[in-house]
Amino acid sequence: MNTKRDILQVEDLTKTYGRGANRTEALKGISFRVLEGEFLGIMGASGSGKTTLLNCIAAMLKPASGKILLRGQDISGFRGDRLAAYRGRSIGYLFQEFELLDNLTARENITLPLALRGVTAGQAERELQTVAALLDIAQILDQFPSQMSGGQKQRAAAARALISDPDLLLADEPTGALDSRNSRVLLDRLAEVNRVRNKTIVMVTHDAGAASYCSRILFIQDGQLFHELRRNVLSEPREAFYERIVTVIAQLGGGSAHVL
Ligand SMILES: Nc1ncnc2c1ncn2[C@@H]1O[C@H](COP(=O)(O)OP(=O)(O)OP(=O)(O)O)[C@@H](O)[C@H]1O
Ligand SMILES: [Mg+2]
Repeated sequence: MNTKRDILQVEDLTKTYGRGANRTEALKGISFRVLEGEFLGIMGASGSGKTTLLNCIAAMLKPASGKILLRGQDISGFRGDRLAAYRGRSIGYLFQEFELLDNLTARENITLPLALRGVTAGQAERELQTVAALLDIAQILDQFPSQMSGGQKQRAAAARALISDPDLLLADEPTGALDSRNSRVLLDRLAEVNRVRNKTIVMVTHDAGAASYCSRILFIQDGQLFHELRRNVLSEPREAFYERIVTVIAQLGGGSAHVL
């Protein structure tokens, strides 16, 4: 029996940018559900609507129609403090380009969300130590971003996204600016956070290697879902899932893995 609950429901979501001749239908009616504890990948060609979808889920963009429910609650009804709490605490967001503040140390960057909420320094330090250990960055907490490697910056950004213990971690191409070794380190850490903390992750990626860490992948094309792959993480090794992903990309992309 499957006892896992839906954490996110996306129902018939549409989003349009611009008007008249400049009108772009970025999302054309996307529906899917995410179970608590899933590590969901989203793949699709450039311009297919992946960032638009994540930004709608994060309530940073307003959809034209459709619904987004987190734990059964329709987020379109959120206003004021409730909306701020949703954006700041229910959702953790990890960007391709880290988005750390240059004049703050890793410690200050990571604990900023807690400082803004008035969490005491002692409590913030405890939360910090927990996420720093999970992301293997305890050694660099006093360094500024200019003194960190790309991989360290992204793991610090992940710590900042996770420190408020969000319901959902959204990651938009988080390995896009990393070399393959640092990508692997980040993905291993995220997979650990997913497995050990049962943290639900939705990750956009162009990279089949990164996607192979996921338990399910949605492929989107021109603002619509067009394929899904599922992996039983207990019985299917990552390498085998990788092969299936590459096969789908090759079939759907006319033989080139670079189209996604
Ligand atoms: N602010 C905007 N104004 C107008 N059009 C936009 C805007 N943002 C995105 N679009 C358009 O909406 C479509 C989807 O864009 P989106 O950024 O969601 O794609 P993506 O899948 O994230 O692409 P990429 O892989 O390149 O990041 C594209 O056609 C894009 O040009
Ligand atoms: Mg994008």
